Amino acid sequence: MKKKTDTKAKKPWGGRFAEASSDVTERMSASIQYDARLYRQDIRGSIAHARMLKKTGILTAVELGAIEKGLREIEREIEEGRFEFSASLEDIHMNIEAVLTERIGDAGRKLHTARSRNDQIALDLRLYLRDEAAEIDKRIAMLVSVLAALAETHIDAVMPGYTHLQVAQPVRFSQHMLAHAWALLRDRTRLQSAVRASSVSPLGAGAMAGVNYPTDRAFTARELGLEGITPNSMDSVSDRDFALDFVYFAAVLGLHLSRFCEELVLWSSAEFGFIRLSDEVTTGSSIMPQKRNPDLAELVRGKTGRLYGNLVSLLTMLKGLPLTYNRDLQEDKERVFDSVDTVKLSLEGMIAMLPGMKLNTEAMKAALYRNFSTATDLADYLARRGVPFRKAHEIVGGLVRHCEESGADFFNLPLETLRGFSEHFGDGIREILNPETSPERKLSAGSTARGEIEKQIEAIKAILGGSAHD
Ligand code: ARG
Repeated sequence: MKKKTDTKAKKPWGGRFAEASSDVTERMSASIQYDARLYRQDIRGSIAHARMLKKTGILTAVELGAIEKGLREIEREIEEGRFEFSASLEDIHMNIEAVLTERIGDAGRKLHTARSRNDQIALDLRLYLRDEAAEIDKRIAMLVSVLAALAETHIDAVMPGYTHLQVAQPVRFSQHMLAHAWALLRDRTRLQSAVRASSVSPLGAGAMAGVNYPTDRAFTARELGLEGITPNSMDSVSDRDFALDFVYFAAVLGLHLSRFCEELVLWSSAEFGFIRLSDEVTTGSSIMPQKRNPDLAELVRGKTGRLYGNLVSLLTMLKGLPLTYNRDLQEDKERVFDSVDTVKLSLEGMIAMLPGMKLNTEAMKAALYRNFSTATDLADYLARRGVPFRKAHEIVGGLVRHCEESGADFFNLPLETLRGFSEHFGDGIREILNPETSPERKLSAGSTARGEIEKQIEAIKAILGGSAHD
């Protein structure tokens, strides 16, 4: 960003002040270093506002023409890095307005009629979140489709499912991938609700009481493609719930990604050995030549901390603020921007990491034969033969203890041994003990059986297809 070095410039908001701001006031007030990124939204909002002023007879067609042309020119210059920002002009709103006025004179001075920076910033941030949300939504959809593809490709890979990180029951690897996919689809819903909250126009609330002109707020909202206008001028300039909704969405998405990444880290360890991440997404050690570290997964996991920080920081900043606008509100932007950047980067990292991941199905299979993974199947077998489930649970518990104490192989227990524990053990028991076919014995909707997984994949494809992006 190009910057002017004009400290001690005259205050931009006119006649009230005889002296320039002190250096520290200027340094604390200036937000242009970060809110310059709102320039597109600020210009879009200003053009919609100017059109409304023309429609209501406040601006002439000539004035509107000069404003639109001037603003477009400024937009191009900012895009190309040719625009000079000035810290003494505080923020993006005043930087743009001052240069516009410098160039087109009084028409530029009229642009701020029936508007305040208070409703202007409340609009800009909403427009910004809507724009960014579209890109973030695309990336979530992409990640979900990567997961669905992995589930489809590896539909027959079976691995242990865990509770308490102890081997629990055999599951298909695809069930595990889809579990994460569904969580991400809920994140999408949360994002959409933040977008809805951002889709009403606060513009026209003025500083906080409304404006002394017969404006047409609904016209401005329509110009901007928004769904309507905020109903109360004071609430319009105080409300940052839409920003909270967004940073909350981001925190929960981070939470989901961090859980997934934790598993990728575990699974790529020598102890699990279930997956191998590609060279492109792993790094070596400067001292230990053998190392292949899953840094990308660790970084996505780590970045979740900032997403929580942004949520807590915004909640704390808003707490106890009296109505209406307070300058504290300027502190919302860096938190929102950081959540936007972090979420986009993390999603990009996940999309880069997953397709190149190799599965070690032999290691998964070996792990299935640990910790009596089909003990539940055995108890269900007895229950189906009329043994009350609690009783069956106790019998199989005894069997497990017997195996632990005697070192017997649970998965190959001879029928006589089994019958020593219950006379109901009989035909087909070998198959019931087999952890590799255990997923197929799951009959309930949403289970890890192949047919249920196929249904989930279809359902996810339909959801993604229904919201197909360009
Ligand atoms: N830069 C300010 C912000 O981000 C814009 C609104 C300034 N309003 C004011 N009354 N100083 O909140």
